[in-house]
Amino acid sequence: MNILLLGSGGREHALAWKMKQSPKTDRLYIAPGNAGTGSVGINVPMKADDFEAIKAFVLDHAITMVVVGPEDPLVKGVYDFFKQDPALAAIPVIGPSKAGAELEGSKDFAKAFMQRHDIPTARYKSITAENLAEGYAFLEELNAPYVLKADGLAAGKGVLIIDSLEEAKKELSGMLDGMFGEASRTVVIEEFLDGIECSVFVVTDGNDYKILPYAKDYKRIGEGNTGLNTGGMGAVSPVSFADSLFMQKVEERIVRPTVDGLKAEHIDYKGFIFLGLISVKGEPMVIEYNCRMGDPETEVVMLRIQSDLVDLLEGVAQGNLKEKTLEEDPRAAVTVMLVSGGYPEAYEKDKVITGLDEVDPATIVFHAGTKESDGKILTSGGRVIAVSSYGKDKEEALLHSFKAANQIRFDKKYFRTDIGFDL
Ligand code: AMP
Ligand code: GLY
Repeated sequence: MNILLLGSGGREHALAWKMKQSPKTDRLYIAPGNAGTGSVGINVPMKADDFEAIKAFVLDHAITMVVVGPEDPLVKGVYDFFKQDPALAAIPVIGPSKAGAELEGSKDFAKAFMQRHDIPTARYKSITAENLAEGYAFLEELNAPYVLKADGLAAGKGVLIIDSLEEAKKELSGMLDGMFGEASRTVVIEEFLDGIECSVFVVTDGNDYKILPYAKDYKRIGEGNTGLNTGGMGAVSPVSFADSLFMQKVEERIVRPTVDGLKAEHIDYKGFIFLGLISVKGEPMVIEYNCRMGDPETEVVMLRIQSDLVDLLEGVAQGNLKEKTLEEDPRAAVTVMLVSGGYPEAYEKDKVITGLDEVDPATIVFHAGTKESDGKILTSGGRVIAVSSYGKDKEEALLHSFKAANQIRFDKKYFRTDIGFDL
């Protein structure tokens, strides 16, 4: 198969690394990719949401499958763009339709979907400028802290968790006034859930599904989960608290009703579903849906899938996922993200990265924000490299990743040394 993978982060390097191992993969292209994906496949200088350019490339290069990494092209309708074009309709796109991507693109849609299908999630109310008074009344009903979420995509910044009622009311009206632009013209107010979070990934062909290895990510910049939110500073898989009883509840109460609900509502969904879950005293509840794989979770999940990912994705495309097998690697996997000093606030780019060739074979170096220039690898983003390792347990895997994290060098490098600390 000739595969085009859209995206450019650590997630995409991990997906490319895994797909490259498949005997079914002939040529693998990544658009736009990074310095790491360029060593596994061929980078194409094309934006992941430039649909016309993607069309021309797909036809010119006899692409037989498109795999979508990030949410943006999905929420903008890349799946539908292919389906509606006679020249492209036969080429499978791994990812949901625009309607399916609303599970991530609109928190209001996702909450209503969960309510329709009895999927456990926090109590909520959706508020616009028209029913602001109802929003204040709902906040008064709830206990602190208060959770306010911009309905639309806000680059991961659209969720506020606020301790005081007065402050929550003020922020609610600020959000409706456009604090996050159009994304917060509708705001979802939610009851606060207290528990421990994990990420569960599902791949579905619209009828059947497979549950991929689950993971936990570490979102805050500082040790002990303190400081500003980031795209993710590290991840581990498996997660000790997600035992088989918990996962059975997740499957019965969340995964199956989600896949069945999409089907019942005639929403085309052939791709990944990312469930952001919280365990409240052992009971799983949905914090959020995403319509794609997680980053940096993919950088551990791919290590723990033993089966051929391309064969699984072929099952997704052809609607015979049921006949495929998913084998998990029993080892633990972890990833530690090396970031540019200053991130997630202002940071510098174009720092030379060295030491990549000193890393042991137990470690796989996934590039996130990197680029190649004159034979050198340079930093080009906040999250730079995801240092992923196997181990017999997470402690052993972490030893490998921390060793490599020290061997890889660039000016103002920072990473958290406490990934997995809370498990
Ligand atoms: P989201 O973008 O919806 O995943 O929210 C970002 C983060 O806010 C989540 O990963 C949680 O840590 C936190 N969060 C969101 N909703 C809730 C909630 N209802 N209760 C507690 N924490 C929440
Ligand atoms: N790691 C969380 C996300 O990808 O949204």
